[in-house]
Amino acid sequence: MKFEEAKSIKSVAIVGTGVIGSGWAARYLANGLHVRATDPAPGAEDRLRRDVDRAWPAITRMGLKAGADRSNLTFTARLGDAVQSADYIQENAPEDEALKARLMAEIDAVAPEQVIIASSSSGLLPSRIQANCRHPERVVIGHPFNPVYLMPLVEVLGGQATRPSALDIAFDFYRGIGMSPLRVRQEIPGYIADRLQEALWREALHLINDGIATTKDIDEAISNGPGVRWAFMGTCLTFHLAGGDGGMAHTLAQFAPALKLPWTKLVAPELTEELSRRLIEGTAEQAKGQSVESLVLQRDNRIVDIMIARDKGASQATHSRG
Ligand SMILES: NC(=O)c1ccc[n+]([C@@H]2O[C@H](COP(=O)([O-])OP(=O)(O)OC[C@H]3O[C@@H](n4cnc5c(N)ncnc54)[C@H](O)[C@@H]3O)[C@@H](O)[C@H]2O)c1
Repeated sequence: MKFEEAKSIKSVAIVGTGVIGSGWAARYLANGLHVRATDPAPGAEDRLRRDVDRAWPAITRMGLKAGADRSNLTFTARLGDAVQSADYIQENAPEDEALKARLMAEIDAVAPEQVIIASSSSGLLPSRIQANCRHPERVVIGHPFNPVYLMPLVEVLGGQATRPSALDIAFDFYRGIGMSPLRVRQEIPGYIADRLQEALWREALHLINDGIATTKDIDEAISNGPGVRWAFMGTCLTFHLAGGDGGMAHTLAQFAPALKLPWTKLVAPELTEELSRRLIEGTAEQAKGQSVESLVLQRDNRIVDIMIARDKGASQATHSRG
């Protein structure tokens, strides 16, 4: 069996059009692809078109590709209609293993066998999701980050039955639509980026639960601190610089003892009513009465500013080296 080559993919089926499915739809449309979407929820088509319209100004600032056109979006209530003539399928139903395994089997039963089916799952094992498929070799994980139409990262991994060529094509396809795919070398729950986010989130929950920090304190600690560097340099290279001329070797010598201290707690605290209240009320206070829609627009504009500054910085560094 030969999969579609990445460059021959012209139409994508989106299964599930919530936050992530609509984000994928916007990114695919902005890259000149045709999108056929499906979702069983009442009113799903209106919400999808609204979300694509809301994303369009930020995407336009990032740069539309040839053929980008919102009229290339069609919607159908029937799963079979959406997937049977697609060149690539992106599944974005709720994060529930049984539901995804069932849905994958339904998609697999109607989609042509050379077409790759990618799941946006945030951390489920692909071997479990593909278990009921006739052609499990074409099932991959393509795990994006919200908002999908702006964030570059997509984690790509397969299950035990996935064929390596399916992963290669998914990887090339995502790179072709302006993303930075990351191949997860081993099938693990939570993959890489969410495992990192989850560790940070657990510590944040402890700090809030112990009354040490508010949700605002946590967010300021990240966005005015490590978060500024993380947009262009990850934890490892940052710590290399933290060692001065001695680099990472000096950092390790200086901070290794801290690894033995009980700085972090890692096992999550119980999500009690009181902790939930602090999180919900704290973030509502931070939002200062602004709607989610308004915050999303502000977030998108700032992401675009950061991406533009990041790309400019990277090209200046290349020129100064050359
Ligand atoms: N929200 C995030 O930040 C984020 C980030 C990366 C990945 N993901 C993953 O993306 C997937 C979707 O998450 P979301 O945040 O968009 O959820 P969501 O709740 O916003 O959307 C899920 C959509 O799936 C639809 N749906 C339910 N059953 C369906 C079915 N049988 N067939 C087709 N559609 C169905 C729902 O009607 C809904 O529109 C999950 O696997 C999640 O883990 C989410």
